[in-house]
Amino acid sequence: MADTESSGNGKAFQPRIVAFFCNWCTYAASDLAGASRMKYPANARVIRLMCSGRLDPQFVLAALRQGADGVLVGGCPPGDCHFQEGNSQCRRRFELLCRLVAQLGIEPQRLRLEWISASEADKLRDVVDGMVKQLKELGPLRLEPIPRPEGPGAGDLPPAGVAAEGAPP
Ligand code: FES
Repeated sequence: MADTESSGNGKAFQPRIVAFFCNWCTYAASDLAGASRMKYPANARVIRLMCSGRLDPQFVLAALRQGADGVLVGGCPPGDCHFQEGNSQCRRRFELLCRLVAQLGIEPQRLRLEWISASEADKLRDVVDGMVKQLKELGPLRLEPIPRPEGPGAGDLPPAGVAAEGAPP
């Protein structure tokens, strides 16, 4: 999709990015970028985590459901996690998450995981820049409504305490 796509109000599309940053590295890099007066797009809204290993896949799905066009996750480089293995757990979860969003019809390119240490403000700027460009190419995220089951009784839940037909006791 062209990066000139309108967001509906006549202005060029500006992607919304929700960024989950580890406090000890990527968040510190964003602080450094600010202190160094580096300029980078203001499209990212940062949420600070104590470790990238704290990232629950539901946080990412909730961000997408609530209007984000992309999600950026930033953690300490391999071997530097303050909680030993948080970043490797994050990497494994992130790979599964990319497969899950693809199944939901969302381009996995909307998700990005980067290891950015506290001193790498310039890398952070380049990553945010690159992600904004990529999301402009992809266009706004439009989630399809989940189709409701069809047929008589389809989708009805049994009353609380009553097992569905064929369900194990
Ligand atoms: S403390 Fe930064 S990724 Fe774990």
